[in-house]
Amino acid sequence: MRSAKIVGLGKYLPPKVLTNADLEKIVDTTDEWITTRTGIKERRIVEKGVGSSHLAYEAAKIALKRADLKVQDIDLIIVASITPDNQFPSTACYLQRHLGARCACCFDISAACAGFVYALSCAWQFIKGGLYKNALVVGSEVLSSITDFSDRSTCVLFGDGAGAAVLTASDKESFLSAYMGGDGSQSDILILPAGGSRMPASHETVDQKLHYIKMKGNELFRVAVRVMVDAASRVLKQAGLESKDVTLLIPHQANNRIIKAVAKRLNMPLDKVYVNIAQYGNMSSASSAVALCEAWEEGRIKKDDIVVLDAFGGGLVWGSCVIRWV
Ligand code: COA
Repeated sequence: MRSAKIVGLGKYLPPKVLTNADLEKIVDTTDEWITTRTGIKERRIVEKGVGSSHLAYEAAKIALKRADLKVQDIDLIIVASITPDNQFPSTACYLQRHLGARCACCFDISAACAGFVYALSCAWQFIKGGLYKNALVVGSEVLSSITDFSDRSTCVLFGDGAGAAVLTASDKESFLSAYMGGDGSQSDILILPAGGSRMPASHETVDQKLHYIKMKGNELFRVAVRVMVDAASRVLKQAGLESKDVTLLIPHQANNRIIKAVAKRLNMPLDKVYVNIAQYGNMSSASSAVALCEAWEEGRIKKDDIVVLDAFGGGLVWGSCVIRWV
């Protein structure tokens, strides 16, 4: 039976580091508040003019090399991002241009922090269905471009980065299950209000700072724990597995307290939960992608291990998938 497996992972974090101490100089906050409330110590920030496609390109090059595939072999490119280079063309098209790839299907996915899980699941299904053979899936974000650095309730949370995975057709079943959910009735609790068709950019939208992330953190926190537990429980059930079978849970890195609450409800000991939020903060779709790559680089994912990705984000959207490493 035809399925897909991951054959290469890559990540790229821009070199510039913004620490909690740096933020103390910009807004009324403290390292102590940020650390205890979120678990974040520092995050990466791009230089001016760097777009999501540039970060995606760096991560993709590494993933392709590790996959031992040439860019011409790639026939599907999916980029998950809420900070695309432009509204159009898609960041996937820009990535294709940077890579010099030709004749690949290119599209972006807007599923916020669940974007990488959504994109991986789509690529898996496209390959399983026989439409494509080799897919490049990237989560890439320049969240600093939509972060209001005068709003202490959001600017301490977000960072920039990219992670990439190369999938190829395989007769081994590596993706055991996937689930994606959404609830548009709660779209207002995490939103970029202006810049789209409903509220195009104007002097007023700029004056009112409507091109920055607006978030109701408390409300989001409660929903996040519930939907992440639900998504992971569903995919484990679908795969005929239990929490004890999981080698590594890779949750979305939004808040360490959310991660701990999810792990507790899933009955997962924390040593089986991957956490890198201290170094990078919340990078939306790039968080899961970078965490997966980093966990693999650190030797925490080996052959036959069971890995669960579990993410949620603005939309609201959420998703989880179970991967047996082959
Ligand atoms: N530094 C210092 N104080 C801050 C602060 C900061 N950076 N940000 C907020 N505060 C203050 C608030 O003004 C509030 O003060 P008040 O009690 O005097 O009004 C107090 O801290 C508590 O704020 P609250 O929003 O209740 O804190 P919290 O414990 O809920 O933590 C978040 C805030 C954002 C860290 C938390 O709600 C969260 O992580 N939510 C989920 C966010 C998320 O997942 N977003 C991305 C989705 S992908």
